[in-house]
Amino acid sequence: MSLFIKKPLAQLLAQAGDSDKGLKRTLGAGNLVALGIGAIIGAGLFVRTAAAAGEAAGPAVVISFIIAAVGCAFAGLCYAEFASMIPIAGSAYTYAYATMGELVAWIIGWALVLEYALGAATVSIAWSEYLNNLLGGVIPYSLSHSPFEYAVNRMIGGELKLISTTEVLASDAIVHQGIMNLPALIILLVLTLVLIKGTSESAGLNAIIVFIKVVIVLVFIFLGWSYIKPENYVPYTIPAGTPGHDTWREFGWGGVLGGAGIVFFAFIGFDAVSTAAQEAKNPKRDMPIGILGSLVVCTILYVLFSHVLTGISNWQEFKTVGKEASVAYAIKTYMQGYEWLEVGISIAILAGFSSVILAMLFGQSRVFYSMANDGLIPKVFSDLHPKFRTPYKSNLILFVFVGVFSGFVPGSMAGDLTSIGTLFAFVLVCVGVWVMRVKNPELKRAFKTPLVPLVPILGIIVCSLMIAGLDPYTIMVAVIWMAIGLVVYFTYSRFHSYLRKNS
Ligand code: ALA
Repeated sequence: MSLFIKKPLAQLLAQAGDSDKGLKRTLGAGNLVALGIGAIIGAGLFVRTAAAAGEAAGPAVVISFIIAAVGCAFAGLCYAEFASMIPIAGSAYTYAYATMGELVAWIIGWALVLEYALGAATVSIAWSEYLNNLLGGVIPYSLSHSPFEYAVNRMIGGELKLISTTEVLASDAIVHQGIMNLPALIILLVLTLVLIKGTSESAGLNAIIVFIKVVIVLVFIFLGWSYIKPENYVPYTIPAGTPGHDTWREFGWGGVLGGAGIVFFAFIGFDAVSTAAQEAKNPKRDMPIGILGSLVVCTILYVLFSHVLTGISNWQEFKTVGKEASVAYAIKTYMQGYEWLEVGISIAILAGFSSVILAMLFGQSRVFYSMANDGLIPKVFSDLHPKFRTPYKSNLILFVFVGVFSGFVPGSMAGDLTSIGTLFAFVLVCVGVWVMRVKNPELKRAFKTPLVPLVPILGIIVCSLMIAGLDPYTIMVAVIWMAIGLVVYFTYSRFHSYLRKNS
């Protein structure tokens, strides 16, 4: 039987229309935009911006954000067509099952694990960073970092300061070695338990957190603007020959592309809007508004925010002293009189990160739920708790899996793996829209992606370029992950697929 067996569209749409069993349709366009922003603004902005500036792009990280936004916009236009045509939960995995068949759906589902599970891990690591900063650094380095990380400190002017690991070790240097990231594991466990209990009551809380997040970003932009030093923008990209920036994606315009791959993480989550398709009042009209609207709002905020951050503090500091909790660092060091803002921003960031982690864990359990319902992964992933009606076993297994990354892998690696997995899924969604237009032109589409095939092709190109701009070692790990996925498909899923058994 074909590897490309497809789930009939009529069957999917019937599932979506089954409102007795299904989810309630309560969300309007405004709610969907809020949902998107809730899942989007997080560690990408508050942690990865500085990482991209320090590692690859310099102050031109602003342009990196624009490149990433363009890639997301192309993919977002394709997502919007699918979401308006197949308005049911499950996101890209479900679209692919209906359009490109089981194997491609499986590949996307497997890539989405990188997006959601590793995304949750990355944000939990960032959470740990800001918590430690808020507590004045009381958590020992060894218990708040993975075994792959170390820091070198020296006494400078009577103060213990972090120095670059690329500097020659001095005799008075003190090396700290990470063992495990305990705070990241703890927040993950707490949020897993919240998720098991069910999150419907927390919708109001989420709205408040979204509001606080946006306010904090705006306050930072407005107050920080007058602290910008124009000399921090010169040179605008990292000059060739800068020590520690040896490969094409670490300096100049190549670095700007490398930076785009890194900050792309900040946009992840807009596709989470599509997982709420079954809860939208008027999905055909509101899904495109929700997806594209949240993307536009976030892009404007990101561009302004990164311009201010790299204007207040020099990008070089983001490699050393300002590497961790970079926004709090910039305020503390350069915005005298605004210490209250540092504390306020850290608390808001911790709350904001929690909502992103929750959205990611939720998205992951939902994709697993759909895959288990299709028989592609074991039933344990769709078993519901007798009282809470949540996939609790799946949540607990996920805690162990995500915990391995939260506790024992550096945030930069988890973040880049998340970006690769998501970019890959985006490429396949762009392909899917195009394929569907050619094969099923007659289907009704409430929202049509403009200029097909140009927009999908541009989406494929920009997203692929961003993958190429990421660290080759991380790309290799992602390839190994996808290879494991194929082994699982050909040894398990193929033989357990309900669609195959029933056809
Ligand atoms: N976009 C989300 C974040 O930046 C994943 O945290």
